[in-house]
Amino acid sequence: VLKRLSVPEFAARKGKEPLVCLTAYTMPMAQRLDSHVDLLMVGDSLGMVLYGFETTLPVTLEMMIQHGAAVVRGSKTSMVVVDMPFGSYQESPEQAFRSAARIMKETGCQAVKLEGGREMADTVAFLAKRGVPVMGHVGLTPQSVNTLGGFRARGRGDQEAATIVADAVAVAEAGAFSVVLEGVMEQIAQVVTARVTVPVIGIGASAACDGQVLVAEDILGLFSAFKPRFVKRYAELGNEIEEAAERYAKDVRARSFPGPENIFGAIKKHG
Ligand code: KIV
Ligand code: NA
Repeated sequence: VLKRLSVPEFAARKGKEPLVCLTAYTMPMAQRLDSHVDLLMVGDSLGMVLYGFETTLPVTLEMMIQHGAAVVRGSKTSMVVVDMPFGSYQESPEQAFRSAARIMKETGCQAVKLEGGREMADTVAFLAKRGVPVMGHVGLTPQSVNTLGGFRARGRGDQEAATIVADAVAVAEAGAFSVVLEGVMEQIAQVVTARVTVPVIGIGASAACDGQVLVAEDILGLFSAFKPRFVKRYAELGNEIEEAAERYAKDVRARSFPGPENIFGAIKKHG
């Protein structure tokens, strides 16, 4: 546990080198990303990216625990943060603590993340005072998709902008060690980053934030249901998977796979 980047070390990076964050949902992905990032985020986006749900709402605590534990097993140096899924914390600070304690005990992660602004400040404080480091998440909060009426960028009007700034300040002042700021106008991201004393991690926000996070499958070209503006593709692994499957299928149909090197006690073919 000591060789991982710790929560205080992460928080102390504000105003220094940008913090690099990516999602990871599985052991092999965590292994590949671990040495390149500061934070592995086990996001509830896994409901959409891995399970094909249209929103993150169906994700359960059990799913987050299984994936969180796999990511901890697959990583050595990154800080691991696990998302609290919809319905596991909104009811009360006590419910949130019970859920967070299960996540931390059963995964070995260092912190949890929960969505919400001023309305979640009491819950953030309750957890933070009881040994559960909390990352906030404001702006576009996907668990509120039904209230917001879709996944649209937030903060276009002055009033909405002021709300987002107040939300970020409230969760930071309540004791969150960092805040994810998602899908907001750049000016809001700059104001929030300047106003809040903990690292602000942007996604669809601004390069001026203290760090960035993206969904690994998005940057790798492994998720193609839709591509938000804030995603930049660094690889096209989806295409590589299709090409590999196509070549394998061709070999099987031609009986050129398995070859002698892939089987036991191969019969010598003459002629
Ligand atoms: O669920 C998720 O992947 C997230 C990060 C992108 C911030 O919440
Ligand atoms: Na999330």
